[in-house]
Amino acid sequence: MKTIYSAIQPSGIMTLGNYIGAVNNWRAMQSDAGNKCIFALADLHTITVRQRPEDLLKNSWSFYALLLAVGIDVSKSIVYMQSHVHQHSELAWLLNCYTYVGEMNRMTQFKDKSAKHSDNINMGLMDYPVLMAADILLYDTDLVPVGYDQLQHIEITRDIALRVNNIYGDVFKVPEGFIPKVGAKIMSLQDPESKMSKSDPNPNAVISCLDAPEVIMKKFKRAVTDSDTVIAYDPDNKAGISNLLRILAVTEGKSVEETVKSCEGLRYGDLKVRVGESVVEMLRPFQSEYARLINSMDYLAVCAKEGALKASDIAEKTLARFKSAIGFAAK
Ligand code: TYM
Repeated sequence: MKTIYSAIQPSGIMTLGNYIGAVNNWRAMQSDAGNKCIFALADLHTITVRQRPEDLLKNSWSFYALLLAVGIDVSKSIVYMQSHVHQHSELAWLLNCYTYVGEMNRMTQFKDKSAKHSDNINMGLMDYPVLMAADILLYDTDLVPVGYDQLQHIEITRDIALRVNNIYGDVFKVPEGFIPKVGAKIMSLQDPESKMSKSDPNPNAVISCLDAPEVIMKKFKRAVTDSDTVIAYDPDNKAGISNLLRILAVTEGKSVEETVKSCEGLRYGDLKVRVGESVVEMLRPFQSEYARLINSMDYLAVCAKEGALKASDIAEKTLARFKSAIGFAAK
């Protein structure tokens, strides 16, 4: 049995990048009977950037409903909110004492976010990867399916786990990252040199999984490409077209090569319409299931509660193992 663990921050919107880079693989991995899957809403991570309480609350349930709507199945996977399982915060403190400030200072996301939120470079922002390491290590995780931008955090998780194991023996399982062959980094539709990001102030750059069909079509039609006319997969010289081809490959379930072949002779405008329609059709059933679930708050609350109970059972055992290895007295 392999343990699969991943999480998403319930802030802003769930983007097409989140779906293609991560959540789509969560669902695929959950269908393998040899996998035990655990997925969290990383709400503790969201407060490293200031959140309005009413938005955080609304987004938490909205993301929870959306995960179920895209097919994450609570009868197969554990789906819970990180803040419901107090062991995450406790393990993060312990791991802090085995993590160097210099390591955290070098994290790309910390440097980017510090530049973006220079008025609020709080300790949590710097400590973010340690909390993420706690998330992963609590569940004796084998594989962590994520997009490309999270790989550095998984590397540091491995470093911390190995460091602890070197001191105390085999306390933690050392996890590995898993990124999809296609779609590990979906780019902005307006600036295809940078990642599609939920915090992008330009709404045309980002597809939300809950965007209406006409909005999705409009955004794809406006997608930035290049001044050439030939459709080819060439991320260095044709970043915009290559991004559209990657999105199409995933939504049509084909390889990039097959996708390029099937687009031979199309004009850029035709490609944009085809990608837009393909994304609309992929999201359509998710959106109607979401509309049903978001009005079933009692059901969502029961699912989240059960998920938290199951998660904390596992988490408590790992935490107790580490505390005993450190030398804390038993209760
Ligand atoms: P978050 O919420 O930023 O993103 C959730 C997942 O979506 C992936 N992703 C993308 N993939 C491809 N293209 C994109 N443009 C794109 N944008 C986002 C991310 O790589 C991620 O897999 N720190 C994490 C949440 C987290 C976590 C964890 C993940 C907390 N604890 C433990 C794994 C394990 C984050 O902020 O993801």
